[in-house]
Amino acid sequence: KMKTFIDGLMAKMTLEEKIGQLNLVVGGEATTGSVVSTGVEDKIKKGQVGGIFSVTSPQRIRKVQELAVKNSRLKIPIIFGLDVIHGYRTIFPIPLGLAASWDMGLIQQSARVAAQEASADGLNWTFSPMVDISRDPRWGRIAESSGEDPFLGSAIARAMVKGYQGDNLAANNTLMACVKHFALYGAPEAGRDYLSVDMSHIKMYNDYFPPYKAAVDAGVGSVMSSFNDVDGIPASANKWLLTDVLRKQWGFKGLVVSDYTSVNEMIDHGLGDLKAVSALSLKAGMDMDMVGEGFLTTLKASLKEGKITQAEIDRACRNVLEAKYKLGLFEDPFRYCDDNRAQTEIFSDTHRKIARETAARSFVLLKNQGVLPLQRKGTIALVGPLADAKENMVGTWAVSADVSKATSLLAGLKAVAGSNVNIVYAKGANVADSLLEARTSIFGKPWQRDNRHPDTLIAEALRAAANADVIVAAVGELAEFTGEASSRTDITLPQSQRKLLHALNATGKPVVAVLFTGRPLAIPEEDKHLPAILNVWFGGSEAGYAIGDVLFGDVNPSGKLPATFPRNVGQVPIYYSYKNSGRPQGTDEFQKFRSGYLDERNSPLYPFGYGLSYTSFGYSDITLSSKKLKGAQKLTATITVTNTGKYAGEEVVQLYLRDLVASNTRPLKELKGFQKISLKPGESKQVSFTVTTDDLKFYDHNLKHIWEAGEFTLFMGGNSRDTKSINFWWDK
Ligand code: IFM
Repeated sequence: KMKTFIDGLMAKMTLEEKIGQLNLVVGGEATTGSVVSTGVEDKIKKGQVGGIFSVTSPQRIRKVQELAVKNSRLKIPIIFGLDVIHGYRTIFPIPLGLAASWDMGLIQQSARVAAQEASADGLNWTFSPMVDISRDPRWGRIAESSGEDPFLGSAIARAMVKGYQGDNLAANNTLMACVKHFALYGAPEAGRDYLSVDMSHIKMYNDYFPPYKAAVDAGVGSVMSSFNDVDGIPASANKWLLTDVLRKQWGFKGLVVSDYTSVNEMIDHGLGDLKAVSALSLKAGMDMDMVGEGFLTTLKASLKEGKITQAEIDRACRNVLEAKYKLGLFEDPFRYCDDNRAQTEIFSDTHRKIARETAARSFVLLKNQGVLPLQRKGTIALVGPLADAKENMVGTWAVSADVSKATSLLAGLKAVAGSNVNIVYAKGANVADSLLEARTSIFGKPWQRDNRHPDTLIAEALRAAANADVIVAAVGELAEFTGEASSRTDITLPQSQRKLLHALNATGKPVVAVLFTGRPLAIPEEDKHLPAILNVWFGGSEAGYAIGDVLFGDVNPSGKLPATFPRNVGQVPIYYSYKNSGRPQGTDEFQKFRSGYLDERNSPLYPFGYGLSYTSFGYSDITLSSKKLKGAQKLTATITVTNTGKYAGEEVVQLYLRDLVASNTRPLKELKGFQKISLKPGESKQVSFTVTTDDLKFYDHNLKHIWEAGEFTLFMGGNSRDTKSINFWWDK
């Protein structure tokens, strides 16, 4: 049916109208480049716009859609997109935080809520999920990713796509998802945004491609190309990526869109002028050109000169029209323009409640020497530059957030504490006394500095702490230290905050650090000296309450790190699934002529999968259904987990495998399963995983997806470091 309809429509279209469908313009102010779209109204009437992003509200969208379906010759509706990344108006934790929940139901639900709200505001397309694997915390956009692991990243990619798209793209409360940034955007050299990516194909296929593929397998409607080059060819003109891998190998049938002016940027990559790069991009498999208008302004001439073919334009046009068809826009172009939905469906009490619960379950307790949970009595000194900073709570890339509705930690903590607790507040320090702060704005405005002398600020904090029973220090990053074009070479806490923490610690009172961060930070000093650290990422609009819920023990923290925290930025890239080398250290002690550092240990500060709870968990030994397997048999691995502490709590039980002897070097551990369970004090549960030969598979040097017979080690535990293990054999 779709094919017949689109064949009929395309038969009526002129070349100009076909090229017009490939043009994606930006309508609002949320731009991330220097170029903005102009003359949009006129272009719509001429049929020169296929999609528009960053226009919101049913009323505005209706007006724009009317221009298209009433004033353009063929009345082809427009598709309306936005970066709905971690919530629409009700903001959820940044994606790295969501990943830390290891709870796919919760993650799917967050995407569902976002789709519900965004579609109630007229939208039908989101530029999410971003699934770029990143093992480099210098890169600011690690905040928008699911971290370092392909298995966890793939599960999250599936959950997000399902959450946004539901079962029916044409329903008025779903959004078409767009998996990005294809490909390898999370691995730029030196962690510097947009820079070259140079990586072996084995690594791509084994470690970096799986989440994109998982999104494709889950039926994602669109794919966004990345800014970087891959194998020396920018992704936006990389035929191998956009056609051979994506369409031929993975069978993707949807729409491919460029990133913001990424087609034009190939001029700076050194691939030619606008006409040349636009032709290269179309030929490589690009369908829609975001903002740069290289397609709109040059493809006709390129066709005349025989640089591109009519079939290539038709292919791209068809992919755009099919997306619109699947969204139901031909049936009803105004299907997402309901004037009443927004009132009840956006930032509703139900959504805020879900966001609060999700935030609380994304926090990772990094250290706790008996200080947490806090008691609901006495005096708490809440100090730190991020304590009363509600603009900072929502985190990076929350373009549709209404920050005035976010709750600061100060307000949230007061609300959750109740009347028996006295909370005194002092700022204590500026976020940073460096370029870092000077180069950072927040929602377009400069961050408010306190211009008093740093010692005066610290003295004020010490006065607040003088009568307190416990000090809660809200420290870490500004949201805008993270995200796009926000790479850092120094991933420690800024000096101003370290001085504050030092002074607070010297009081001898217990100091709980509430750490706001969009990346793994190197905080070995804080780990050494402070009795408790709760990593809260950027938890979204309800995070102020959620942090209170966790600090007071109403919610027991259960988050686990989706990315390794290094001791030192010099260890980067650091990730758990590294390879042994021929000269492993074996232990964490330095040995000459073994792979290590003279001045630092190899091990991270906090490993992948790590996170504490207010209770403790004991793990039995592992039992296997068999130690010798053959062919298509299945292995069941079981472990008993016991809550050995005083509080009810949740634990993420993780399963890793190592292929001990193979034709290729293989990682020391690879995540192959996880289950989040809850246990009452004293309760035990048996947790079983099924392992099949699919779990043994890897891409070899010929890029064949194979498994090899031999001996394997299976590990289970509560993080990637502290595991029980057992060996088994699998024959062909
Ligand atoms: O979707 C984003 C992308 O992640 C980065 N560049 C801009 C796009 C549209 O806003």
